[in-house]
Amino acid sequence: MLCSGSGTNLAALLAAERRGELGPATVKLVIVNRPDAGAIARAEAAGVAVRVLPHGDHLTREAYDRTLVASLRDAGTHIVALAGFMRRVTSELISAFPGRVLNIHPSLLPAFPGLHAQRQALLHGTRLAGCTVHFVDEGLDQGPILLQAAVPVLDGDDEAALSARILVEEHRLYPLAVRLVAEGRVRVDGRRVRIAEGPDAS
Ligand code: GRF
Repeated sequence: MLCSGSGTNLAALLAAERRGELGPATVKLVIVNRPDAGAIARAEAAGVAVRVLPHGDHLTREAYDRTLVASLRDAGTHIVALAGFMRRVTSELISAFPGRVLNIHPSLLPAFPGLHAQRQALLHGTRLAGCTVHFVDEGLDQGPILLQAAVPVLDGDDEAALSARILVEEHRLYPLAVRLVAEGRVRVDGRRVRIAEGPDAS
């Protein structure tokens, strides 16, 4: 996983793994680009390997992504899950893991890409907000959409209240998305993403 922030989505993936809900996936490595990322302590507490790779040590985004790819390959990574990774990634990373780089974004894309998505939703006055797990391409929050969940925007909401409501759905959605990809049930067909039924479907 690639993180920059508090790592609550990492915690949700780890909890899902403990419950046996990640399918064949395991969280093997957490890479952070900021030494103060809360994700570090969460990974360490779970016994997951952590690498701190500050992006400032690299001259270009591509050079940084080559370092990411080397670390991820070393760890035998199959799926790369970005969660609050405050860094645009390049084709160096995307082409190294084709169809296997995911991101979670706190809006119903294509609405409100980029920073402060929850604030953008409040400023716009939408009645629904939510989150999106999508495949990463070179655009900002623009790759094919895998899963989405909606939450209401309530009259008294401020950014913190809306973010907290969305996070509950993020923590449910991301483990499910990782599981679907790990089980090989996801096919990307242009912008459309098809999900095959699982073995437990009736
Ligand atoms: C989440 O809201 C995610 O959608 C966004 O950044 C936040 C990361 O939170 N991309 P956390 O670090 O997983 O707690």
